[in-house]
Amino acid sequence: MIGLFRASNFRCLEKVELEFGPRFNLIIGANASGKTSILEALAYLGRGKSFRGASAARLVKHGEGEFVLFGEVARKAGRINIGVRNGRDGLEVRIGGEDAPGAAALAAALPLQVIDPEVHNLVAGGPETRRRFLDWVAFHVEHDHLAIWRRFRRVLKQRNAALRSQATVATIRSWDAAFLDFGGRLDESRRKALTLTRDSLRQHGTALLEADLSFEYQQGWSRDKELGAALEEGLERDRQLGSTQHGPHRADIKVSYDERLARKLVSRGQQKLLASAMILAATATAQAALGAPLLLLLDDPAAELDEGSISRLMAAVTAIKCQVVATSLDSAALRFAEKPTLFHVEHGVVIRHR
Ligand SMILES: Nc1ncnc2c1ncn2[C@@H]1O[C@H](COP(=O)(O)OP(=O)(O)O)[C@@H](O)[C@H]1O
Ligand SMILES: [Mg+2]
Repeated sequence: MIGLFRASNFRCLEKVELEFGPRFNLIIGANASGKTSILEALAYLGRGKSFRGASAARLVKHGEGEFVLFGEVARKAGRINIGVRNGRDGLEVRIGGEDAPGAAALAAALPLQVIDPEVHNLVAGGPETRRRFLDWVAFHVEHDHLAIWRRFRRVLKQRNAALRSQATVATIRSWDAAFLDFGGRLDESRRKALTLTRDSLRQHGTALLEADLSFEYQQGWSRDKELGAALEEGLERDRQLGSTQHGPHRADIKVSYDERLARKLVSRGQQKLLASAMILAATATAQAALGAPLLLLLDDPAAELDEGSISRLMAAVTAIKCQVVATSLDSAALRFAEKPTLFHVEHGVVIRHR
């Protein structure tokens, strides 16, 4: 949760200061006034990267050398100030007045989720977005998830480098013990995360789509095999292709809608609702584990949704009791359960605030 927030030289925002309320906040303004930029800056403070996939260089206001973000955040452990500067020297992070090691420290200090017009990719896109989704929950509920994930990724890289350079079978196999160790633990941690999230997934999915939904974990190798056996059987093919074909790096969540693959759902609006249900479930699950309200950013949530869907979405958002910062073209499009703290932006400037 965030209170005071400042951003300078971030996209079109030269200098803005906003004092967010603990529950509902609404930023309104015309097209290109800077609404999404404010959410993007908030998300950058909790992730060390843009949710629009822009590089730091593109986020710096034209003609300036660096951007600076600052926030007063509240967690279960108490209040703390966090700051981010990104310029020629790369990302610099300060948490509680001390240098911090980067994105993971930010994610622990200001955990947040985003529902934006691209959210349907969580359902319609490739497995990587769903692995990231699962890893986000696991990061917040399993204390050693990040360390295991990093070590697995390193081993995978090394094994793939050996495969690519046509190393001997003995060299390739020398990575297998670590691959199985970290791969097995990564798999375990993701399974637990999905198990913890499942009730909430069903509940929000049903509330938003009024359909029968299922979320099935796919481990990344054949279901009836041990990872070791899959690795051994795949060795020849791995050598031919020059990379490891089976393992947790291929994991996915199979999302089904009335027993059909949700990825093939025709309506973009339905994909958006389903993806939103997943984000809300992840937020609620992490929030329960962390014992404090999380920040949820809603960028133009009304886009592509009919009125009934918007009100179901807003009801579900209200139900999880997180802190919300939403954007909209006008103040009438979104109905909140209580009066939101309102901000108007015009040409990158917050002109009214009450
Ligand atoms: N690095 C930058 N420096 C200055 N302006 C930028 C930069 N990047 C984007 N902009 C401008 O910021 C404006 C606001 O964009 P955005 O926040 O997406 O608006 P909104 O969400 O209100 O429609 C746009 O006019 C865009 O061209
Ligand atoms: Mg926008």
